[in-house]
Amino acid sequence: MVAPRLPPLYVLIGLSVLTLILYFRSSVSSNIPSFSINRQTPANSTLGFGGLFVVSGPGSPRRNNLIQSANVTELHFTIPTLPTWTEEQIKAFRGKDDKSTITNGSVRAWLSHNLVLNEFLKSGLETALILEDDVDWDIRLRTQQVPLAATAARALLPPAGEEYYWGHPDDWELFYVGHCGDYFTTMDEPVGVGVVHPNNLTELPHVVYPDQTLPRRTDLHPFTSSLLTAFDVPEKSRIVHRSVSPLCTFGYAVTRASARRLVEEYAPISGNRGNIDHAYDVAILTACRDKGLRCFTVNPELMHHMEGESLISNLDNKKWRPPVDKAGLKQTYWRGETSNIGCGFWSRDFSWDGDKDKLNHLREEVGRKGQCLKKDRLPNGDRVGESVLRASK
Ligand SMILES: *[C@@H]1O[C@H](CO)[C@@H](O)[C@H](O)[C@H]1NC(C)=O
Ligand SMILES: *[C@@H]1O[C@H](CO)[C@@H](O)[C@H](O)[C@H]1NC(C)=O
Ligand SMILES: *[C@@H]1O[C@H](CO)[C@@H](O)[C@H](O)[C@H]1NC(C)=O
Ligand SMILES: *[C@@H]1O[C@H](CO)[C@@H](O)[C@H](O)[C@H]1NC(C)=O
Repeated sequence: MVAPRLPPLYVLIGLSVLTLILYFRSSVSSNIPSFSINRQTPANSTLGFGGLFVVSGPGSPRRNNLIQSANVTELHFTIPTLPTWTEEQIKAFRGKDDKSTITNGSVRAWLSHNLVLNEFLKSGLETALILEDDVDWDIRLRTQQVPLAATAARALLPPAGEEYYWGHPDDWELFYVGHCGDYFTTMDEPVGVGVVHPNNLTELPHVVYPDQTLPRRTDLHPFTSSLLTAFDVPEKSRIVHRSVSPLCTFGYAVTRASARRLVEEYAPISGNRGNIDHAYDVAILTACRDKGLRCFTVNPELMHHMEGESLISNLDNKKWRPPVDKAGLKQTYWRGETSNIGCGFWSRDFSWDGDKDKLNHLREEVGRKGQCLKKDRLPNGDRVGESVLRASK
């Protein structure tokens, strides 16, 4: 679908990617030092971007949890104050003679993302990761996952100076770090095995790399699991690839140039002609897929939105859910974890609610050492009994 649009670099990238795939694949079993976990230096408190900007509506009930989790992982968030969007602002977005099918909720989300992108542009920073306030992540995000993903990203992009943690901002426009799937197909079709093939991946610029923090294949969201199997990617490995069909905007990184293009060109809030039939994330997907925005996906994602508000409150909620959430729901509850997250914050095991001593303990043991201190879990996040089961096979 997305033909790589980099003619002069294509051969070069193709060759280096091939080398890297072989290199990284072999490192799955042989643990090549440069990719071994112990040697990774943690990413800094903004995950190697200029800033982490959060989209969080006024009085959002999710913000407190988000901040508590960020304190444990030691992330530095910027949370711009968002207004309560008025009827006039919603009408202005919809434009004259409105026949749009977009919901008011989606209009508000669009306006909010737009405001946060503008706050980033005002900040003078060079890059930013834009996050929604209900995202979950693994306790090893900063110590292992981001260092690995950024190393893979830099391997995919032209060489750049050390100061460019994710590659030079002239060489990329958008990094999907958090999403609800880049399945190479849309939700109108089935996903994974039987639909896509290894060649659909190999014909794209991509890097496959080992990441021991990724849940086992059987514990991944069923769509993700099927996709990775269809691509013949080894267990406990992720891919960084040119985006094909990324869904949801849980966490996406932008540069100054691409943020400007988003607010002015690809997802503007004014000049709409009353016929918007898609949400914000689809506007970005379309820009990546059809309009030449240079987007990359970390697959499986490092951030995924949390189910409901707590483990209990949504158990019996029969309300409509997007297809990806619906397919992952039962697994989410029996794992006690957000889809595709190994050891995350959804279960509230790592909440500290004002107890600074507890926070300090969690920072050291969970945040820095990456120990999954949850009931019935081993420090690496595996379930107690699971490893025994595997060993006896
Ligand atoms: C984190 O690293 C990035 C890339 O080197 C840098 O731009 C950013 O300022 C750093 N953040 C902090 C808080 O030091
Ligand atoms: C937790 O994070 C918030 C937001 O970044 C910050 O304002 C606050 O000082 C942090 N709390 C502690 C105890 O570090
Ligand atoms: C959406 O917002 C507009 C403008 O505020 C309002 O007129 C309309 O009734 C709202 N639609 C729904 C379905 O709430
Ligand atoms: C995957 O590859 C097959 C075989 O080459 C092709 O027919 C199909 O269109 C590709 N699918 C996608 C989603 O790129």
